Amino acid sequence: MSSTAGPAFVGLVATGGTRTGSVLPSGASSARPGCEPRGKRVAIDIKSPKEIELMRTVCRLAAETLVLVGEKIRVGMTTEDINRIVHEDTLRQGARPAPLNYKGFPKSVCTSVNDIVCHGIPDGTVLKNGDIVNVDVTHVYEGFHGDTSATFYVGTPSPQARHVVEVARRSLDAGITQVRDGARLGDIGAAIQEYVEGEGCSVVRDFVGHGIGRKFHDAPQVKHYGRRGTGDRIRTGMTFTIEPMVNVGGWEVDVDPKDKWTVRTADGSLSAQFEHTVLVTRDGCEILTARTKALRSSENVDALFVA
Ligand code: MF3
Ligand code: CO
Ligand code: CO
Repeated sequence: MSSTAGPAFVGLVATGGTRTGSVLPSGASSARPGCEPRGKRVAIDIKSPKEIELMRTVCRLAAETLVLVGEKIRVGMTTEDINRIVHEDTLRQGARPAPLNYKGFPKSVCTSVNDIVCHGIPDGTVLKNGDIVNVDVTHVYEGFHGDTSATFYVGTPSPQARHVVEVARRSLDAGITQVRDGARLGDIGAAIQEYVEGEGCSVVRDFVGHGIGRKFHDAPQVKHYGRRGTGDRIRTGMTFTIEPMVNVGGWEVDVDPKDKWTVRTADGSLSAQFEHTVLVTRDGCEILTARTKALRSSENVDALFVA
């Protein structure tokens, strides 16, 4: 995702600082809670039929890699093991992992465990029973980006883990339901925020979804909170991500002062996220990163309780 104001990252909105994530296009206005965005409006790209075909392809490949991750996740593996699986599968497909060396990110995928909200760096961390881990896969293929993530259960989840993951999953669906030609970006954020807060959780403000195509992080910023009827109009042919980060506790987050990437909940509470890349159509959207198979260790949560 992108962060709101700040140096170069997209995705976020402005609470005063930018975080990592996506990059803001130059001239983009940063969103300010409670205010209309200021500054120049940035045009939002409309994809041509050829570009849409390429977006379909790269997004399908990214979704397939995410499905593979779900088939491999086990108690005892490390986040570096997930990195290797993603890296190798991406190259096998003839694509490239977009995170690798992106603004200095050192790995091929983001792996965010428990209180890590996003941009976790794969390392020797061992996944243990009861953990939750978001795996955020972005491919580049023929110059186009496809971005998708899911949160997986490692072994058997606690009721709280299960709650935050299922709320995050359904909040993405609530946002996607708003997408159609003529709707506004604020409709997406409002639907997500209303659903999440109604479930007793909170939505992260500092990182947002983003336009995507030849650029990893492009205009517009897609906030996961806000008011209906506000924000830019959504038009047929736009492609962007929706990627709500949902916390058990408060929405505030901190970026790791040492690695400058890892984003954690300020209160140490659990956080979960799901992400799709979508194409706006006249009466809805096409979920470009939709899966043709169920996501193991995530969508089959009930089965995880069976001994
Ligand atoms: N995939 C993230 C997103 O959804 C961005 C990761 S940037 C990285 O926008 F550098 F950390 F990989
Ligand atoms: Co994204
Ligand atoms: Co992503």
